[in-house]
Amino acid sequence: MQVYISQIAGSVSKDVEIRGWLYNKRSSGKLYFLLVRDGTGTIQVVIDQGSVRAETFAKCEELTQESSLIVRGRVNEERRAPGGYEIILSELEIVHLASDYPLTPKEHGVSFLMDRRHLWLRSSRQHAILSIRSSVEKACQDFLDSRGFVLIDAPILTPSACEGTTTLFETDYFGSTAYLSQSGQLYMEAAAMAFGKVYCLGPTFRAERSKTRRHLIEFWMLEPEVAFASLEDVIVLGEELVVHVVKRILEERREALEKLGRSLEALEAVQPPFPRISYDEAIGRLKSRGLDINWGDDFGAVEETELSKSSDKPIFVCGFPSECKAFYMKTSPGDPRTTLSVDLLAPEGYGEIIGGGQREDSLEILEAKVRQAGLPREAFEWYLDLRKYGSVEHSGFGLGLERTVAWICGIEHIREAIPFPRMLHRLGP
Ligand code: 4AD
Ligand code: MG
Repeated sequence: MQVYISQIAGSVSKDVEIRGWLYNKRSSGKLYFLLVRDGTGTIQVVIDQGSVRAETFAKCEELTQESSLIVRGRVNEERRAPGGYEIILSELEIVHLASDYPLTPKEHGVSFLMDRRHLWLRSSRQHAILSIRSSVEKACQDFLDSRGFVLIDAPILTPSACEGTTTLFETDYFGSTAYLSQSGQLYMEAAAMAFGKVYCLGPTFRAERSKTRRHLIEFWMLEPEVAFASLEDVIVLGEELVVHVVKRILEERREALEKLGRSLEALEAVQPPFPRISYDEAIGRLKSRGLDINWGDDFGAVEETELSKSSDKPIFVCGFPSECKAFYMKTSPGDPRTTLSVDLLAPEGYGEIIGGGQREDSLEILEAKVRQAGLPREAFEWYLDLRKYGSVEHSGFGLGLERTVAWICGIEHIREAIPFPRMLHRLGP
């Protein structure tokens, strides 16, 4: 019977078939130990020269790393084997013999690995990270679905900029210009007026000349948007979302976290309420610690690390100046210089994982903001319509999936948090 390695515990003392790839092989005279992976786990397969046919034993000799194979044999509980089980082989079928697999168990440099990302995905570390990513996406969706949010897919090709015109990817659209979406937000605002509570989850693009450990050119964003909701409402929503996601990963992906050497205590500390500070307080704090920053400046990695390092929980920063934020942000009622905006900074130096706020809901003010931002009014006519026909207070945010995954995994660079990263100098594989 064919089984997956993750379910092997249910097949002790039974004869099973496993289909997979050879991860590693060692021999000691009359015995071969194959480490086989099938995508759900790895298992040790033992071949005893005395109990298999001579040709089967000879096949083991031939097997190379990453050859695909089918093994049949009896499952044993074996404490000393990795994973606690092993298979005593009776039959071995080589499906395809790999030759000169380039990723050997020795250490390789990052660019060597990135060039072979299509193969690097097979390593146990990448497997752990991307399994966690899969669970993070699912946990985000389950959280919002359970609260009555409707999934609305945003377009990728768009006629207008959402997050400033300096990071747009342009492409020809049958003689006119289209841009790759920087954010689904404007479309979620339209959808919120139709469905109340909505979200999208998909790829977004920024032609940013940033080469840092937290910037990707193509990254995925989860963007909830809620009608009749204030900034405060979405701060609470973001907090509950992050708490839910971290808790789920601790429950579902403990083994993967352990594989990555992630501190579980650090994740267990992610409990509500998260600390909150205003932008003004943040500037004061940064200045008092000797950083060269002025009111009106946006935060970069250094400032975010400084602000979040004294907390073991993510920290909210609210009320950024309008010059730091996009045109759609609502101006703070008592302070025309600031906006009803919020960033959530992850601890341990990971920095901003959420950016959002309350949207400008007045037609006149929004028209002025579009003009001041130098945006072409024609492209935003549809967006302005939302303020003509039943405009309401509404708010939302975007959670960067890869930054969230990198933080939860405790990995140094965001490039490992996405299957095929697109970065400043990398488009392949
Ligand atoms: O702060 P940002 O630019 O906000 C928006 O795009 C809003 N329109 C979202 C909304 O309100 N619906 O981006 C949101 C998040 C950031 O907090 C960060 O986690 C992630 O997206 N992000 C990036 N992740 C990787 N690489 C980049 N270049 C990123 N830029 C933003
Ligand atoms: Mg931001």
